[in-house]
Amino acid sequence: MSRLSELGPVIHEEHFRMLVLMCGIENRVAGDEGQRPMDPNDEQDRALLEEVITGLTAMVGHNAYEEAVLFPLLCDAGDDLSDLLCEEHQVIEPLARRVRTLATETLEQGVRGSSGEAFQAAALSLAGNLIPHIQKEEMAVVQRLGALLAPDVDRELALSYERECERLAKAYSTRESKKSDESSTSSSHE
Ligand SMILES: [Fe+2]
Ligand SMILES: [Fe+2]
Repeated sequence: MSRLSELGPVIHEEHFRMLVLMCGIENRVAGDEGQRPMDPNDEQDRALLEEVITGLTAMVGHNAYEEAVLFPLLCDAGDDLSDLLCEEHQVIEPLARRVRTLATETLEQGVRGSSGEAFQAAALSLAGNLIPHIQKEEMAVVQRLGALLAPDVDRELALSYERECERLAKAYSTRESKKSDESSTSSSHE
């Protein structure tokens, strides 16, 4: 039996938080509950929208960490699932950005026009993509970390996880804002 990893529970806990968030959104925007648009004046809806914004902001660092640290481990172990997991990030991230933007707008301006339906559709699509993605990662990555990592590397990664995620999230947002500056500069020259 392989050694238990120290990094594994750290990643697992983060996945668990994301699953709870996704199930919370799904329960609120699907079925009978979904008939009622999100209401920023309702205490529970407000709390859920704030959790969505915080949770999806944290996910940026988590995904970047997986791509920088975990997926290469799979690759080195001769497992090509890392390509698929990376491709799934490319689908999940724009959806997460859309849900986060709509959640922010709902909090600031309330539901306007079709924004309630737009939030509902984007949130359901995000949950539908993110939940199976996390399940795959739990099987393919988290449960195998003990076998994939040397004990000292494992410990070091577990200790530095949060710091690294923050660093990668900052690098990501700097890159994104540069991209949007460039696109607004090029469109202003058109
Ligand atoms: Fe992931
Ligand atoms: Fe993950």
